[in-house]
Amino acid sequence: MNELGSMSDLSSSLVSEIKDYAIFLLDVDGNVCSWNLGAEIIEGYNSEEIIGENFDIFYSKADRAKGIPHQILAEAKETGRVERQSWRIRRNGTRFWAHVVVTILYDDAGEVSGYIKITKDLTEQRLRTEHLKMLKENLEKQVEERTRELIEIRASLEETVEKRTQELYEINNELKAFSYSVSHDLKAPLRAISGYSGILLQSHAKELNADGRVVTETIIRNVRRMEDLIENILRYSQISSQQISFETVDMKRLFQTCWNTLTGDNFPNRIVKFNVSDSMPHAKGDSSMLAIMITNLLSNALKFTKTRKSALVEVGSKMVNKETVYYVKDNGVGFNEKYSSKLFEVFQRLHKDVDFEGTGVGLAIVRRIIIKHGGRIWGESHDYKGATFNFVL
Ligand SMILES: Nc1ncnc2c1ncn2[C@@H]1O[C@H](COP(=O)(O)OP(=O)(O)OP(=O)(O)O)[C@@H](O)[C@H]1O
Ligand SMILES: [Mg+2]
Repeated sequence: MNELGSMSDLSSSLVSEIKDYAIFLLDVDGNVCSWNLGAEIIEGYNSEEIIGENFDIFYSKADRAKGIPHQILAEAKETGRVERQSWRIRRNGTRFWAHVVVTILYDDAGEVSGYIKITKDLTEQRLRTEHLKMLKENLEKQVEERTRELIEIRASLEETVEKRTQELYEINNELKAFSYSVSHDLKAPLRAISGYSGILLQSHAKELNADGRVVTETIIRNVRRMEDLIENILRYSQISSQQISFETVDMKRLFQTCWNTLTGDNFPNRIVKFNVSDSMPHAKGDSSMLAIMITNLLSNALKFTKTRKSALVEVGSKMVNKETVYYVKDNGVGFNEKYSSKLFEVFQRLHKDVDFEGTGVGLAIVRRIIIKHGGRIWGESHDYKGATFNFVL
């Protein structure tokens, strides 16, 4: 045996042992001439039963009817090599996804001597790909459905928001009209009462005895209080609809200006020490709204220290959890801390009118302004030793 002969024997015995590929020879008509172990495993026939059979046995009835097996051979003859992937039938009738390569063979004289056919079973990969494809399609369908749902939800949300905005706009307008008529219609009779009471005191003083004068003065005082109440409640209701403009506000300066205005010419004759901390960061906010807010806090500090011999009001800021907390602190009478959350509600007062006058609206205005700025406020008082109001903007 020459070297080439022994090589070809060796390679054919190697081929016969390969398990993962079906490798076999076909003659020019497509009849099976050789059969390896892989072919037996993949196609399901042993060599005795298949050798001599035509390879079209591996194709489905439909493929055979279409003449596909012989088209493959014709194509291999023409081009030298054909590659195909399709479902094939095993001996037991089950399907498998085959990757097939058919290559033409020539004899020494250069004539076509047959074909070599190599088949690999790619069923698992094929099923995995199909499964992945199905998952992808399902996912795409779900995404499409969710997107459609979201678009619908968004449209209905937009509709609701638009409706609510319109409703709010109408309510706001009604409120403005209501506030306007309250201020005018309620103030007119009050003016009349205080006007006529004034006439009583001035033009009919002789006809009134001491009791009558006290009663009339009490009427005038209460009318003023009623006017203040109306004025404050109006201010309180107007804040919500007021446009807010954000600018950089020098808080130290604003505290000082508000203090100067409050303790100006008409300030009662008493000494109150005012300490403003040196370093106070600027804030972002509406300076005229913040001025109203600060004036209310300072006027409370002034009012509730009136009984102290040496009254002290301190304002400043501190950093707490990376936030600037501004504060107004006094050494006045303080308040019962149990009710500290109540202070910011309209008409809630923790002190008697005879001790400290007021309408109970100031802190409600303060809180509305702070909330409009997106901030928060809280009050502290310990053992009635003064009060501190802290706020964040
Ligand atoms: N600095 C303070 N010290 C002690 N108590 C205070 C202080 N500030 C507010 N309070 C308590 O909170 C209540 C509510 O304050 P708010 O400013 O709303 O009303 P007011 O000052 O009584 O009246 P108004 O400000 O409307 O004239 C006060 O009546 C008082 O009981
Ligand atoms: Mg007040």
